Amino acid sequence: MGESTPAGLDTSTMHPARRYNYWLGGKDHFAADRASGDLIEKFHPTIRTTARENRAFLRRAVHHLAADAGIDQFLDIGTGLPTADNTHEVAQRANPDARVVYVDNDPMVMAHARALLDGAGATCYIEQDLRNPGAILADPQLTDTIDLSRPVGLTLVAVLHFIPTHQQARDIVGELLAALAPGSHLILTHGTTDFATPHERAYAEQLLRGGPADAYPRSHDQIAEYFTGLHLIEPGLVPVSDWRPNPDAPRPSAHDVALYGGVARLGD
Ligand SMILES: C[S@@+](CC[C@H](N)C(=O)[O-])C[C@H]1O[C@@H](n2cnc3c(N)ncnc32)[C@H](O)[C@@H]1O
Repeated sequence: MGESTPAGLDTSTMHPARRYNYWLGGKDHFAADRASGDLIEKFHPTIRTTARENRAFLRRAVHHLAADAGIDQFLDIGTGLPTADNTHEVAQRANPDARVVYVDNDPMVMAHARALLDGAGATCYIEQDLRNPGAILADPQLTDTIDLSRPVGLTLVAVLHFIPTHQQARDIVGELLAALAPGSHLILTHGTTDFATPHERAYAEQLLRGGPADAYPRSHDQIAEYFTGLHLIEPGLVPVSDWRPNPDAPRPSAHDVALYGGVARLGD
């Protein structure tokens, strides 16, 4: 995107959706997003691989739910800017009747979503914050689009690590899952420094303390707690590149990917 500023957008501070778009090779970012992206890339040189592998996991997981698990409605929180294979496109390729509610707190995502969702079947977009799960669940656009008495695929992909404390993240996931019907599924990815060297881990902590980093890496055990009460499907909570990988695609290491992903079913 050029440096002209869409009305109502603060482009002077970095925003994760635009920085992620930068790493993915998109065009919708500003100088502050690129500066933050470049700083993080210094500490984690494979961050673009991380972003691409995260997207590929999202695609495989949504396809699995829509094609094999009978899920025909999705709640995708932390949508991001449109890119290739958005959730409704993947789901509707498997089931043209699939319905999708997108939620993000970035107004620029909203601006793009209007264009993207034009003619996109039963989809809607809500500008809301993950920290307000009650407001998301009660939004009339959500209840007009999906039926919470039937199973839903909830995607929290590369978004929960923006919640600063583990307990708050747990509470948010718990509140969302409590509103979902049995047979619903959670698709989740989350940043980690489990595979980082001690030096890399120390630098990550320094970036977080100093301000420029805003994603809170968590351990496998902590991330597994977000799946409490759910049944993780095979292969469990693993580096995203190891979750049902495409055998023909290159498989980057857990160190380079630095993201766990898992899919789990809410029991009957
Ligand atoms: C790294 S992107 C991930 C996009 C997409 N889920 C994917 O995995 O490709 C994170 C997204 O979460 C959104 N986000 C961050 N914090 C959020 C919050 N508190 N509430 C809602 N959305 C949030 C950002 O605006 C951004 O679009």
